[in-house]
Amino acid sequence: MPTEHATDETINRASALIRAGDLVAFPTETVYGLGADATSDQAVAKVFAAKNRPDFNPLIIHISDIATAGTFAVVSDKATALASAFWPGPLTIIMAKKRDSQISELATAGLDTIAIRCPDHPVALALLKKCGRPIVAPSANRSGHVSPTHAPHVAEDLGDKPALIIDGGPTSIGLESTVITLVPFPKILRPGAISQTEIENIIGRLNAPTGSKSTKTGKIISPGQLASHYAPEAAIRLNANHTKPGEALLAFGPAPIDHEGPMINLSPDGNLDEAAANLFASLRSLDKSGCESIAVMPIPDEGMGEAINDRLKRAAAPRNI
Ligand code: TXA
Ligand code: MG
Repeated sequence: MPTEHATDETINRASALIRAGDLVAFPTETVYGLGADATSDQAVAKVFAAKNRPDFNPLIIHISDIATAGTFAVVSDKATALASAFWPGPLTIIMAKKRDSQISELATAGLDTIAIRCPDHPVALALLKKCGRPIVAPSANRSGHVSPTHAPHVAEDLGDKPALIIDGGPTSIGLESTVITLVPFPKILRPGAISQTEIENIIGRLNAPTGSKSTKTGKIISPGQLASHYAPEAAIRLNANHTKPGEALLAFGPAPIDHEGPMINLSPDGNLDEAAANLFASLRSLDKSGCESIAVMPIPDEGMGEAINDRLKRAAAPRNI
């Protein structure tokens, strides 16, 4: 699979490939996405196959402007308010799907809801505009593995499955978008760079706590939020205050614990945004050191720390695949 820098010519080629039903990996401000034409069943099926993703796990539809959302979703006042405040940006909004929607049923896993996001990245936006189609784009990793924040991560995970990988350099945020559902009531399913407080400033208090399970039934309402996810090969041990033989260290802050051997500090200054941007590349890199396990120092559960800890908890969860 060719990896190309993001020139106008590359974006033209990428657009033609998507329109022809091929897969193109491209950068967004959060992580790299594996893009395909959201209106084509065949193209969407290729995405699930390339990632080895279970077909009950729906995809996010990417668009280049708010107006487009209304062509396949019922855009409520709350959705309009959130989109106006945060798009383009790292917020995915789940709305009711329109019945006559052109979007592939596979993309929404047969649900009557649809997840929509307008990414804040010049390459992603240029591709969406050029191509003129909604694009499904899950993170461009093998299902269950760590998300890609650099173009070479995509090739590591997916080999020649994308027809093209557009290299836009490292992604700036480094963690996937915040996912909020508005159906039947507003609830954050996946924490990300747009915080609950920022959302509440626009649409008022969210009653339900963050999480992918229904508080009433305990049933999973975001099918993709499986317990084990974002996982490197090595085991993960959280809140470490020492390291054990055979462990690598993922440190945070100005006073890393004593350790000999592979170590990466997510942010020596203790900056949580910097730590988020470095997280996935650091997990991949420590994995390559051949360690059996990665000990992770405590990360404060505030600001981006909440999203970092969400990903780390899933990376540390028992693996059933
Ligand atoms: O930042 C991002 O959102 C990246 C970039 C590439 O845009 N994409 C991404 O996609 O993280 P993915 O497929 O890795 O994660 C999408 C999440 C999954 O947990 C999925 O289950 C959930 O969104 N989702 C999608 N549609 C949904 C729906 N209708 N109802 C509930 N959850 C949904
Ligand atoms: Mg993903």
